Amino acid sequence: MDLSSILTELGEEREHYFNAVAPPIMQTSNFAFKTVAGLRAAFADEMGGYLYSRGLNPTVDILRKKLAALDGAEDALVFNNGAAAIFAGVLAHVKAGDHIISVRDPYSWAQKMFDVILPRFGVTTTYVDGRTLAAFESARRPQTTFIYLESPNSWSFELQPLADVAAFARAHGIVTLLDNSYATPLYQQPIPMGIDLCMQTATKYIGGHSDTLGGVLTGTRERIRAIFESEYLNIGSGVSPFNAWLLLRGLRTLPARLERITRTTGEVLAFLQGHPKVASVNFPLDTSFPQYELARKQMTGACGLLTFTLKDGTVDTITRFCDALQHILMAVSWGGYESLIIPKCAGIPPADFDATNPVHQWIRLYTGLEDSSYLIGDLQQALDKI
Ligand SMILES: Cc1ncc(COP(=O)(O)O)c(C=O)c1O
Repeated sequence: MDLSSILTELGEEREHYFNAVAPPIMQTSNFAFKTVAGLRAAFADEMGGYLYSRGLNPTVDILRKKLAALDGAEDALVFNNGAAAIFAGVLAHVKAGDHIISVRDPYSWAQKMFDVILPRFGVTTTYVDGRTLAAFESARRPQTTFIYLESPNSWSFELQPLADVAAFARAHGIVTLLDNSYATPLYQQPIPMGIDLCMQTATKYIGGHSDTLGGVLTGTRERIRAIFESEYLNIGSGVSPFNAWLLLRGLRTLPARLERITRTTGEVLAFLQGHPKVASVNFPLDTSFPQYELARKQMTGACGLLTFTLKDGTVDTITRFCDALQHILMAVSWGGYESLIIPKCAGIPPADFDATNPVHQWIRLYTGLEDSSYLIGDLQQALDKI
């Protein structure tokens, strides 16, 4: 479906709300019925209409339709944040005794679920270097029911060969879930590649303004319905109508923001690559990236996240550089209007910092909507101080 029509028309029923251009926030917890027969039908099929906003809600539904279409999927569920979408997507497909294969270093709360919560229920996880299919083949056990992917990873940008992993999983009856947060549906389409469940945190690019959280799962109608009728309703982590409205508002400008961010990131990337105090820059669509060819094959674009290291990669120098920034904010997250920086060493206890490990030296930069000259000027003056 045409991108413009998804963003401006799909799911909008303006004639039902006074032809208002922006949809109303249907801020209601419940929906009334005129007849017992109507109530009975809603009990029998909660996905068939509106009963209670822990399930479906009209404002949320507009967003669901658009997000499913953007992924080329049959249906979508929108959660209160990305971590909840991951949790429901995984929980829906494992039982005691099952085995999961996860790509190494997934998003931290996915890893905590694999390491802390699921083992309590007899579900084990093997982490693999997912750059080749062979790693998944050798990790598979008869009990493997689920493969968890994140491509690109939001720090290392490591990719998995998605079509190959999806075909392998299907051949063995294994369900796949991919965290597509980095690329967004505009730059990577996992569902047509054979991935079963596509997840993204809408907190980042979909919301786009750092003022709300959200998470998305898309897949077949049947799979999404099964998750809705169990984990979604039971955990109760669906997005609120107001947050759905903010996400809808963000979605309208997603292509324009990504276009701008892509351009600015290229300029910032070139500046960092040419700076004598910068040792390395990591960005999936740069020709120096080790999996550049795969990135070009799977993704039509890359957004605003990159990592770099300084030639003097001590904690002291990294700290002085980050502390010296005057405009780029130091904060977690990404995908909003504002540029952000986060040094990996801030999450590593000083005694564990390994000065010979480039990963420990990573500084992650997110390029927002500011002018590139504004950002480059800020980076330049901070680099001058080290
Ligand atoms: C790659 C990735 N996946 C998932 C999430 C979780 O999203 P949320 O913060 O909306 O729960 C994040 C959040 O930072 C993320 O970076």
